[in-house]
Order: sequence, then C-alpha cells, then structure tokens
Amino acid sequence: MKVLITGGAGFIGSHVVRLFVSKYPNYTIHNLDKLTYAGNLANLKDIENKPNYKFIKGDIVDAEFIDELFRTEKYNAVIHLAAESHVDRSITNPLEFVMTNVIGTVNLLNASKALYKSDNNLFSKFYHVSTDEVYGALGDEGMFTEETAYDPHSPYSASKASSDHFVRAYHDTYGLPVVISNCSNNYGPNHFPEKLIPLCINNIKHNRPLPIYGKGENVRDWLFVEDHATAIDTIFHKSKLGSTYNIGGHNEWKNIDVIRLLCKLMDNKLDRPEGTNEKLITFVKDRAGHDMRYAIDAAKLQNDLGWVPSVTFEEGLNRTVDWYLSNEEWLNDVTSGNYANYYKEQYVNR
Ligand code: NAD
Ligand code: DAU
Repeated sequence: MKVLITGGAGFIGSHVVRLFVSKYPNYTIHNLDKLTYAGNLANLKDIENKPNYKFIKGDIVDAEFIDELFRTEKYNAVIHLAAESHVDRSITNPLEFVMTNVIGTVNLLNASKALYKSDNNLFSKFYHVSTDEVYGALGDEGMFTEETAYDPHSPYSASKASSDHFVRAYHDTYGLPVVISNCSNNYGPNHFPEKLIPLCINNIKHNRPLPIYGKGENVRDWLFVEDHATAIDTIFHKSKLGSTYNIGGHNEWKNIDVIRLLCKLMDNKLDRPEGTNEKLITFVKDRAGHDMRYAIDAAKLQNDLGWVPSVTFEEGLNRTVDWYLSNEEWLNDVTSGNYANYYKEQYVNR
C-alpha cells in the first residue's frame, strides 16, 4: 500500500505520519507538504530516515505538479490534511484559504479520480480530514452530529465546508471512494504557537500577557492530538466508503477555564507562587464572527468503529506543557523563524 499524506509537516499531520510510518512498516508513506509557515520538518526528525518514509516538497495548488506526481507514484490511497488552518489568518487573508483548502483539495481529487478511473483496483481511498467548524456554532445545548447542516461562519470554516462538499460531490458524481472526518479542537506537542493553548504556554514561560478574546466564555471540545491520529487510523482502515465520522474528546471547556487551569499547572511546573500566572490574563477585542460553542457527538465513531479517546485532558495538558518546556529549541526556532532552515539542511544540501 502506497499512501500519500498531505500536510504531514504540520501539527496533526506529523502525528499521523509518525503513527503510519511506525505502525505499518509494510506501507510506503509519502509526505507531501509545501512547508508554509506552519510546516516544520523538525516535527518528524525521529522518523525521517525510516525506509518506508519519503518527504516531497510541493504545493497542492499546483495542478500540473500534482497530476504528474500521481501519474508517477500511482498512490493507492490519500490522507489529506494540508490546509491553511488558523481562523484569525483567514479573516485577514481569505483568498489563501480558498486557494489551498478549496482549489488544492479539488486538484488532489482530480488526480485521484484519474488513478481510480485508470484502474479502480489500484486506488482505494481518498480520506479528507476536516473540522467541526463547518457546522457553525451551538448555543448552550446540543451537539454536532454527522447530520447537522453546514453553517460555516469564518472564511476558514467556509473553505473547509466547500472542500467537504467537493469531496462528497466526487463520490456521488464519479464514484470516487471517499471518507470524511470532522474533528474538534486538537492540542498537544508540535502545535504552532499562534493557537490558544501553545500561544499561552509560550507566553506564560516568558511572562507575557495571555490574550483572551471577548470574555473568554467561548467553549471548545479539546482532543489530544495523538487521539486524533488513532481515530484517523481507525477510520482509514475500517470506515464505510462515502461516509462521514465526527471525532471529539467529550471534553468541553470555556476558554477562560482552560487558561486558568494552564496557569495553575505552570505555576507548579515553573516553581512560581500559586496565582502568579493568572495575573497575565488579559481580555482583548473579540475575534470577528467568533463561534460561541462547539461540541461533538462522536457516538457513530464509537458505535460503528469502536474508537474512543484514550487521553484525559489533565494527562494531555500535562504532557503538552512538559513537551514545550523540554523542547526549547523547537519553540525558539519556531518563534524566531529558524525552523525554515531545517529543510535546507536536511534535504537541499543532501
Ligand atoms: P497546520 O496548519 O499545523 O498544518 C498544515 C500543513 O499543511 C503545514 O505543514 C503546511 O505546510 C501544509 N500546507 C499548507 N498549505 C499547503 C499547500 N498549498 N500545499 C501543500 N502543503 C500545504 O494544520 P493542523 O492544525 O495540523 O490541521 C491539519 C488538518 O486538520 C487541516 O486540514 C485542518 O483543517 C484539520 N483540523 C485541524 C484541527 C485543529 O484543531 N488543529 C481540528 C480539526 C481539523
Ligand atoms: O474546532 C476545530 C478547529 O480548532 C480547527 O479546525 C482549526 O484549524 C483550529 O485552529 C481550531 O480553531 P479555533 O479557532 O477554535 O482555535 P484557536 O486556538 O485559534 O482558538 C481557540 C479558542 O480560543 C477560540 O475560541 C478563540 C480563542 N482565542 C484564540 C487565540 C489565538 C483567544 O481567546 N485568544 C487567542 O489569542
């Protein structure tokens, strides 16, 4: 089985690549990534020399390149994670999100369709990794199920919703074997420090203000990234073609409560008197169109495929903070921009 994973140098993608390369030594795993600001090959240092792994630098928006790559490599399956993923960036630059998340996805679908049409025994699955944000926002009650109507509010979620629709359209129109999963907020090692949890870990470490949008009352359902990777593994291998699965952590928290918990945990880890870090909390102007609450009903995934999250929030947050505190070089390189040199050292000069 030759599997193309896109976006494998990013946060979630790197955990998925590591899991597949290590767990399935008989698979050949290709990691296709443009290495935008969010892509960092240092995330995969431990597996970069494995014989069943290859990194390919490339842009999914470049249709000619993608077509040629698929013609040459004849992939058996695709797991598609490459995307622009940060809501705040989508508010300032929506077009980049349309290009990568919509056009890039359609380019991959076209190349997959060509392989599938040439030999449908060869190409078995296009797995599209998506988000719960496509469903919009909830009030105090209820949860997103796979039947919830799409109602995206940010340019990011609108672009992901559009890509989901294209994936389903390629199944219904051309018979392409597809599967989609929509996951809640991830956290864990290798998370780019522009997102709430790693941003606050980094700021606490440096005694900088912790910017909380609005009143901090927005609710997110947090899932440890390694649990997302095992869910993707389960869905990739066991799902019914043409179906959708929600993935969530059964772990809803108001932003302000997550940050208070993090402050307390880091008072302890950094040997600061209790209450020190909480003083860094600073309420700032709210995000435009800020969704109030996300909550995932992941019963279908549990009942049909037997997947449940394995890491509690307490354990996951502990492991995450420990990882950031003991990976200073990673954090310094990412915040200084030095990480971009890793590709040149490892691949260009080889
Ligand atoms: P990320 O921003 O950390 O990583 C994205 C990766 O895609 C980077 O390595 C980047 O270099 C690559 N990339 C971007 N544009 C590209 C292009 N044009 N061509 C090739 N590669 C490109 O993102 P993430 O948080 O790891 O999210 C991965 C996927 O999971 C995304 O599709 C996202 O929508 C989805 N998702 C994320 C979360 C979350 O909480 N982070 C939750 C649910 C779903
Ligand atoms: O729900 C899944 C989504 O989760 C993914 O699809 C996205 O790719 C991922 O980035 C994430 O989106 P969010 O917008 O929920 O994540 P973010 O970390 O940006 O924000 C989490 C919450 O914290 C949100 O309510 C906004 C708030 N926030 C965020 C930042 C960066 C703040 O209060 N202050 C901040 O500085």
